[in-house]
Amino acid sequence: MSHIHQHKILILDFGSQYTQLIARRIREIGIYCELVPYDVRPHFIENFNPNGIILSGGPDSVSKIDSARAPKIVFDLNIPILGICYGMQTMAIQLGGEAKSAAKAEFGFAQIRARNQSKLLSDISDEINSEGHGLLNVWMSHGIEVTKLPENFELIASTENCPIAGFANNSKNYFGLQFHPEVTHTKQGTQILDRFVTTICQCEKKWITENIINDLLTKIRSQVGSNKVLLGLSGGVDSSVSAILLQKAIGDQLTCVFVDNGLLRHNEGDEVMHTFAQNLGVKVIRANAQKYFYDQLSNESDPEQKRKIIGRAFIAIFNQESQKLKNIKFLAQGTIYPDVIESAGAASGKAKVIKSHHNVGGLPDDLQFELVEPLKELFKDEVRTIGVKLGLPKKMLDRHPFPGPGLGVRILGPVKEEFAEILRLADNIFMEELNNFDLYNEVDQAFAVFLPVKSVGVTGDERRYDYVIALRAVETVDFMTARWARLPYDFLDHVSNRIMNEISRVSRVVYDISGKPPATIEWE
Ligand code: XMP
Repeated sequence: MSHIHQHKILILDFGSQYTQLIARRIREIGIYCELVPYDVRPHFIENFNPNGIILSGGPDSVSKIDSARAPKIVFDLNIPILGICYGMQTMAIQLGGEAKSAAKAEFGFAQIRARNQSKLLSDISDEINSEGHGLLNVWMSHGIEVTKLPENFELIASTENCPIAGFANNSKNYFGLQFHPEVTHTKQGTQILDRFVTTICQCEKKWITENIINDLLTKIRSQVGSNKVLLGLSGGVDSSVSAILLQKAIGDQLTCVFVDNGLLRHNEGDEVMHTFAQNLGVKVIRANAQKYFYDQLSNESDPEQKRKIIGRAFIAIFNQESQKLKNIKFLAQGTIYPDVIESAGAASGKAKVIKSHHNVGGLPDDLQFELVEPLKELFKDEVRTIGVKLGLPKKMLDRHPFPGPGLGVRILGPVKEEFAEILRLADNIFMEELNNFDLYNEVDQAFAVFLPVKSVGVTGDERRYDYVIALRAVETVDFMTARWARLPYDFLDHVSNRIMNEISRVSRVVYDISGKPPATIEWE
């Protein structure tokens, strides 16, 4: 087993919205960890051989009959355990304590008082009160609480409303916290997690970018050998970082196919080719398939049908290009760790959120390739950090997400080349000005939409009868819900003037003020 995985933590997921955050914090601290559904087979837990286990929070009510429990083996392995929120409550019950509905539920900020000298919290505090007790500002979110300590456990934290906000069995290295150390609102949260994984679980910090890259390169080389690899490059973060890693690992054995489908943003095709082929020396074939895509889409106005047509067209072009290349054994995919977690969750039927979109151009069944998925252990922020380290332009890595079907879902109704050209220009003006006004990073996604309806306008003495452009900008954390961005009026005024002055076929600009739900982020 490679060095960076030698010390590791296993997180059992009870379904909290914060579970992935726990994993990201542990990784940021420098320790490898994996996240699996709480009812994973005991055999897996034993084989994984973790240095410590974290039981996550969850939406279930621990006092309900048949509510989720940690597998018994967790308590048989003789390794440190940290239970967070629901994880603490189930730990209490499983070890002989009790948990019940709280007299007063707590959601949001709370100040806890650290008690006794626990290995987990000693010397960590935000302030010290007049009696010399350490106080911590934490984030609570619970309606149930531990009401009786299990045998051999002591109290290590309490709040006014929650007398048992933390417990410990110091000799067994078992700990429970009712609050969430993984969220940034808990100021000392990272320090507490660091204490658990390094001091208590005795993990060394080896999960650092340089080691990760070296490990990935070695793994790719040993998997691929001297065979050839094909990669569908979209220019998005995951496929770009996969390409650059493979290029570093196996050089010329890699060929990328970049499909220009005519639904890309302004200059996007040229930029991708420039960055990869010219600057980074990656072998990239550009498949110019604009006409093919426009032809396929020309009479279709139904959004779902359009998505399907675009997906099929990608596969057709990709197949066509791959058949031209001889002796390809592997297909590279930009799968990342959240995709793996989601598929595991979906497979076990317990995932709350099932991704509603998959990248178009998914795997055709008849492509007889083996898969290389170099990023499948990494979170998106780790992928970005690696990309920066390997020389990908930061601008490329920090770009807002762009949907697989591209402008195809931003031109309402049938897609035409003429519409795509107008939209590209308008979108580019919007992006230029977001950057000029330093607003690009203030919103999570922004774009223009082409509305194939005409409205009346006037320029000088001339009457105009032309198309409408809608601007959309949203603030969101997970893209599952979103709020329309309150961009300054002066800024919107400026963008709208530029669009109507510089693009003769646009007579009106509107700003989308719909939240998600009930609207979606994309218009189709
Ligand atoms: P919606 O429109 O569902 O979009 O609110 C949520 C996020 O997903 C992106 N999106 C897609 N991404 N393939 C993708 O890779 C798709 O087919 C697709 N459709 C929407 C959208 O841009 C937003 O970030």
